[in-house]
Amino acid sequence: MSNKFSGKTAVISGGAGGIGLALASEFGLLGMNIVIGDIDQKQLTVAEQHLRALDINVLACPLDVTQNQQWLDLVASTEARFGDIHMLINNAGVGGIPGSINETKIDTWKWVLDVNVMGVVNGTQAVGPKIKEHGQGGWIINVASMAGMNGVAYSGAYAASKAAVVSMSESWAVELKKDNISVSALCPAFVKTRIHESLRNLQPEYQNVKEQGATKVKSKGGMNQAAALVESGIPAQMLAKRVVEALNSKQSYIFTHPNYREGVSYRSHLLDKAFVDAENSEVVGHLKDDEIVIL
Ligand SMILES: NC(=O)c1ccc[n+]([C@@H]2O[C@H](COP(=O)([O-])OP(=O)(O)OC[C@H]3O[C@@H](n4cnc5c(N)ncnc54)[C@H](O)[C@@H]3O)[C@@H](O)[C@H]2O)c1
Repeated sequence: MSNKFSGKTAVISGGAGGIGLALASEFGLLGMNIVIGDIDQKQLTVAEQHLRALDINVLACPLDVTQNQQWLDLVASTEARFGDIHMLINNAGVGGIPGSINETKIDTWKWVLDVNVMGVVNGTQAVGPKIKEHGQGGWIINVASMAGMNGVAYSGAYAASKAAVVSMSESWAVELKKDNISVSALCPAFVKTRIHESLRNLQPEYQNVKEQGATKVKSKGGMNQAAALVESGIPAQMLAKRVVEALNSKQSYIFTHPNYREGVSYRSHLLDKAFVDAENSEVVGHLKDDEIVIL
């Protein structure tokens, strides 16, 4: 098989289901060695068998992305089995619990930020230097969300975590360019997965999160609204094909839902309008043509 991925090795967090598993099979079928790490041991075994049945070289490792030592163990097992690592997909994430700013408990904020933000930091600190080490370059794909492009009412913690993932991706893309590592932020809208059931993966140290009752708004079909939105999403395998397509055209933002363009454009328009307002300001308008200091 001749393509730029074939024979290389990808590490995918949260690879036992949903988007992670779809990416694992897509890159695996392109000839990559696949390492899936996941907190859900049972699902991890099922996913490993599924990938093996597709004739994919796969290694499954237990992984809670909030735990540094588990990342280091995963890296050691990956190198022992496959050698160099070329791709990291920071995919593991949780949806949090729908609620207003006043309803959302600090425990919930900690859980969502620890998994969705620090999990990505931990993964990149453990795997990034390994991609750099062999000098062939590679890819880091951080799974953010459309929620990282626009705030989302009643999902403040989730939206904040995904905005952080977009921002980290932009920062690291500049830092790692010299090492020939391309960093992209994947920003899907709804994808049909189990993201609305994220409490199933709650670690013991965050058990207080369960005390926060979710604001359950019923949708037309009688289903919980969060579940209905996720159910209406695109298939994860379609997203995975889109990711390969976007990497082939070297996209740093990977969008999977072109129908969300208007909302993001409107935000860009508001930001631009805010600059015009600052330019016309009696207080700061005179700074308009000042040179920008870049570090
Ligand atoms: N489904 C969507 O509509 C959607 C939209 C935008 C972004 N996303 C993002 O996509 C990513 C994947 O989510 P999904 O939709 O496939 O959901 P999912 O719940 O189906 O899959 C998430 C996977 O991550 C694992 N996981 C959860 N916590 C973990 C932890 N601490 N350590 C390791 N593994 C952990 C789960 O066991 C599961 O296998 C997430 O980052 C999510 O925020 C999803």
